[in-house]
Amino acid sequence: MTYDVVVIGAGAAGLMCALTAGYAGRRVLVVDHASKAGKKILMSGGGRCNFTHLASGPANFYSENPAFCISALKRYRPEHFVELVDRHGVAYVEKTPGQLFCADSSKEILRVLLTECDWAGVEIRLKTAIEGVERCGEGMRLMTSLGPVDCGALVVASGGLSIPTMGATGLGYDIARQFGLAVTETRAALVPFTLTGHWKARAEALAGVSCEVAVTCRGKRYREPMLFTHRGLSGPAMLQISSVWQPGDTLSLDLLPGCDAFETLCRARRETPRRRLSSWLGEHLPKRLARALVEWHDDDGVLAECSNARLEAWAEVLQAWRIKPAGTEGWRTAEVTMGGVETRAVSSKDFSVQELPQLRFIGEVLDVTGELGGHNFQWAWASGVACGNAL
Ligand code: FDA
Repeated sequence: MTYDVVVIGAGAAGLMCALTAGYAGRRVLVVDHASKAGKKILMSGGGRCNFTHLASGPANFYSENPAFCISALKRYRPEHFVELVDRHGVAYVEKTPGQLFCADSSKEILRVLLTECDWAGVEIRLKTAIEGVERCGEGMRLMTSLGPVDCGALVVASGGLSIPTMGATGLGYDIARQFGLAVTETRAALVPFTLTGHWKARAEALAGVSCEVAVTCRGKRYREPMLFTHRGLSGPAMLQISSVWQPGDTLSLDLLPGCDAFETLCRARRETPRRRLSSWLGEHLPKRLARALVEWHDDDGVLAECSNARLEAWAEVLQAWRIKPAGTEGWRTAEVTMGGVETRAVSSKDFSVQELPQLRFIGEVLDVTGELGGHNFQWAWASGVACGNAL
């Protein structure tokens, strides 16, 4: 079998690249070992796929080479993808500012991509094992469970390592290493934290409680909701900060972001001196959390009896709460992979490997990782289109 282009991975980036190359007149084959295309699209955004973020830009991405993502993101912007889903009549909602989700189901996004692939004449072969890849003159050859497949260009869009049960493998990294590319250290990101000891017991007791926090670690700060779980801490704030957290790091939590707790407590003492701390806390935090804080600190005094030092100590508890996670839930639940194929040897214009232009890498397999909020899909669309247009 011979094709102009073979794409490994029928995920977000691979399908977008395939349909773009197909429309450009290329004969395109997409191969994937999974039984279904776009499994991660289907499970994303809680089943409603947060398919882009209207303000997505290079500042929303982590990479050892931060400039790498600029070109593709500039050329294919969120409004381009919105125009595509509009054309297919997909209904969507803006949940938090900028974050667009399907109004009904993620299936709609996959339907758009598969329809476009069909119109562009792209062939998709699922349940296909990749047994090896080699250079073949000016092109590439794949050894697959379908037999050998030759192509003018091979695009690796095999994604990262998160959620192995969804088909994630390190194939893309192995291919990169085989052809002399470096792979930066990979770790689970956008992932909940686990706690141990008394912190775990405390989180367990509060499982289901959510509140807005500002969390800080390694100079990064995110102000978003946090959720207590049976294992530890989750919610957007924790997922976001997990991308910079390293084992052994302590998180600093502000439970009252945007408020000066000491000043507010002093004012409450002046204005409502007979009030108890638990009552004041219950007004500013979820009731279960307020009750738990009072219990943990064994202090439910009347405000009038609280010295400045005592209120300062409370302000510290509320605004500089220090928690040391034991770890993260790891690849089992991580949304993305931090790190990946080193980008310095890859063109930011067409995603070809400089020393071997018939080989290309796009999407999450590269060392480009977005923040939570639709940025990772925006990267998959943008890198897929930039590569597909150049094939
Ligand atoms: P992707 O992982 O989508 O596709 C890779 C494909 O390669 C898969 O089909 C896989 O089967 C195939 N493959 C892997 N190894 C192979 C092998 N050895 N042989 C053959 N095929 C192989 N992002 C976002 O922007 N908004 C969101 O709402 C969410 N939500 C979300 C929820 C959950 C639970 C997860 C796990 C992830 C998200 N994400 C997200 C992240 C987003 O899903 C992710 O960044 C993109 O799907 C990456 O697209 P890629 O095409 O690069 O890889």
